[in-house]
Amino acid sequence: SEVYLSGKWMPPREATISVFDRGFMFGDGIYEVTPFYRGKAFRLQDHLDRLKYCLAEIKIPFDLSILEPLMYEALSRAGLAASDAAVYVQISRGAAPRTHYFPETPKPTFLMYAFPVKLENFHEKRWKVLVSEDFRWQRCDIKSTALLANTMSNEQAVLRGYDENLLVRDGYFTEGSHSTAFFVSNGIIYTHPKSPHILSGITRKVVLEICRDLGIKFKEEAFPLDKISEVDDVFLTGTTTQITAVSLLQEKEQVLFQGEKGEITGRLQEEFLKRTR
Ligand code: PDD
Repeated sequence: SEVYLSGKWMPPREATISVFDRGFMFGDGIYEVTPFYRGKAFRLQDHLDRLKYCLAEIKIPFDLSILEPLMYEALSRAGLAASDAAVYVQISRGAAPRTHYFPETPKPTFLMYAFPVKLENFHEKRWKVLVSEDFRWQRCDIKSTALLANTMSNEQAVLRGYDENLLVRDGYFTEGSHSTAFFVSNGIIYTHPKSPHILSGITRKVVLEICRDLGIKFKEEAFPLDKISEVDDVFLTGTTTQITAVSLLQEKEQVLFQGEKGEITGRLQEEFLKRTR
């Protein structure tokens, strides 16, 4: 399967970048993961809007109008034109002499490729989740490739046999290392409000739309760690996560939550699946 690197399609082993690429040296870049269900883009405009927002926030000039046809080409070149798949897009500030300040005339490095996404075990998946401290920076709303805090905390979780980790900042759940968190308590769904402390998930937006449509009550409020005993149901969402039920939430040796998939999670999954079909 091929990758698209700054203007050309090529096999991955031929796709190379400068050692002075700021994406490589500083993590100075942003990325996006857009789902395509049965070959059709899902919420493409939302993903493009987020990309545009992130580019503007970190001041990388880039024309996004080339993206959509290239995404479909990435899918067909990977043999995924009619499959459940996703397209990874990454834009770094490109190669420049190493300075902390931005180069005056950046030449961004643009990377894209498609990969398959599996939906078969959508209803069976249950994740064991480790709770740990959110030691990320204050601009988690930027979908930056600088993900060391996310990868370090996820590594600790996976090393111990967990599927994902959930982060807590100042006593409140923020989000997972690569997913948005939802808590169901007394029939109301809680999720962190949009803020610099979370990535504004597109799947999150879809789930809240479904809640509105189905008349399920929700609050965009951060859920406190010390109220975890009042939770009946926990689920995580994301482009590669879809909607995944959590069966265990654990912090160090302490079990915080244990449960089967709740009724609300099941309803949301069914409705979500319908909207991807
Ligand atoms: N992760 N929060 C973080 C920190 C994320 O990295 C992601 C997505 C999300 C969910 O966002 P969305 O619903 O727009 O995918 C929340 C990428 C896509 C991943 O799945 O690895």
